[in-house]
Amino acid sequence: MSAFPDDFVWGVATASYQIEGAVDEDGRGESIWDRFSQTPGKILTGETGDVACDHYHRWREDIELINELGVDAYRFSIAWPRVMPDGVGELNQAGLDFYDRLVDGLLDAGITPYPTLYHWDLPQPLEEEGGWLNRNTAEAFADYSQAVVDRLGDRVERWMTLNEPWCSALLGYSAGHHAPGLTGTENGLTAAHHLLLAHGLAVPRIQDAGCDVGIVLNMDFMQPASAHPADHAAADLEDEKFGRWFLDPVSGRGYPEEAVADYGWDMAVVREGDLDVIAAPIDHVGLNYYAIRIIRSDLISETERTEVVPAPAEYTEMGWVVAPQGIVPLLERLRDYGYEQIYITESGAAYPDEPDERGYVDDQARISYLDRHFDAVAEAIDRGVGVKGYFVWSLMDNFEWGFGYSKRFGLARVDYETLERIPKASYGWYRDYIRSVQR
Ligand code: FCB
Repeated sequence: MSAFPDDFVWGVATASYQIEGAVDEDGRGESIWDRFSQTPGKILTGETGDVACDHYHRWREDIELINELGVDAYRFSIAWPRVMPDGVGELNQAGLDFYDRLVDGLLDAGITPYPTLYHWDLPQPLEEEGGWLNRNTAEAFADYSQAVVDRLGDRVERWMTLNEPWCSALLGYSAGHHAPGLTGTENGLTAAHHLLLAHGLAVPRIQDAGCDVGIVLNMDFMQPASAHPADHAAADLEDEKFGRWFLDPVSGRGYPEEAVADYGWDMAVVREGDLDVIAAPIDHVGLNYYAIRIIRSDLISETERTEVVPAPAEYTEMGWVVAPQGIVPLLERLRDYGYEQIYITESGAAYPDEPDERGYVDDQARISYLDRHFDAVAEAIDRGVGVKGYFVWSLMDNFEWGFGYSKRFGLARVDYETLERIPKASYGWYRDYIRSVQR
C-alpha cells in the first residue's frame, strides 16, 4: 500500500521569468531580472529570459502537457511587472487577464492552480527606489498581492507569498549572483527583513479574501562533517543562517540568535512590531529541497572559515549533493514547529541530458533522483509529518537564472530553436508513478 494518502497532491512547478518570455508585450513592465540578464557578464551564457519557453504564447499547449502528465496541480508564479508595471499604482489589465485565462484553463482541465506571488521578478521601478533595501517595497508587495487575489481569489484557494527569500536577499543583495546584483552582508540582511515584512503584510490581506496562504522556503540539510561537537555547532550555525533565518521569524521565534551574533547584525532596520507582522499565522508552508551540505568547523579544519567540504558523493549537474534522506529531518522540523500542511513546492535535478536525433532524452538519472526523493517523503509521512503534496521542479527545461539555459531541470525537454516541448523518459515515469500510487 502506498504511504501517500488519497488526497496527496502531485504536481509540477515553474516560475514566470524562467518560462514566460514576452517581456515587452501587452504592457508588461521591466523587472530586475530583465535588467540583470541584459547586463553583460551577469549570466554565465550571456542569455536572457526575453523569449524563455515562450509560455506566454504557448500556455494552452503547456496546460495540455501538464494535463497529459496526469498531475493534480500546477505551481507557477505571477510576474509582478506584468500585473503592475510600476510596482505600485495602476494595474495592467492585460497582464491580469493572462493569469485569469491560465487559471481558467487549468481548472477546465481539472488541474488545481498553486500560484506564488513573488518568484524574484521585482518591477525595476521599485529597484530604482532601493528595491528590497527600501521598506516601502514591503507595503507595495502587500498591495500588489491584494490586487491579484481580488481578481483570482474566487477560483484559487491556496497561495504562496514569496519563493525562497534567502535567494532573493542573499544571492541578490549580498552575493551579487542574482538580480539586482548588489553585494554586502548588511544589504542582504536588510533585504531579507523587508522580504519577510512583505510576506507578513500580505498574509492577512490574502486570508481576508477567503484564501489560504503560506511561504516557500528553501532549506538544505546541514550535515556535520564528523561527530565532533565543533562540526555539529558549525552545521547548526549554517542552518540558522540559511533555512532558519526565514523559518524562525515566520514561525514567531524571531531571528536565530547565534546567527545574528555571527553576522554582527545590528538589527537597525527591525522596527517595533515587525516581528509580530512577520509571524502572522499561515495556513501551509512550502519546502524547496535540493541537497545537503556537509559542514566542517574552522576550529578543526585549519581553514579560516566554516566551509562546505566536498565529500565523495553523488552530484547533480548543479554540483549539488544528492541526498534524499536529508529531506526527512527537515520535514520533521516543520512538523515540530507546528505545521500540519506541508508541501514540497520544489524538488528535482539538472543532469547533462543527451537527446537522440528526435530530441528524446532517456534521463534515468533524473528518474532515480525522483524515485528516491518520493521514498524519503513517504518515510516522513510514515513518521507523522503532514506532507500534503509534491511539486517536481520542473515541468520543462527553462531559464536557470545565472546559468541561462545551460542547466536543464525539465520533465520535458525544450528545444530552444523550435521551442518544441519533448517529454523525457522521466515525464512518462512520473505519469506512471502517479497512476500507480493513486490506484
Ligand atoms: C530554486 C528556484 C527555482 C529553480 C530551482 C532549480 O532555487 O526556486 O526557480 O531555479 O532552484
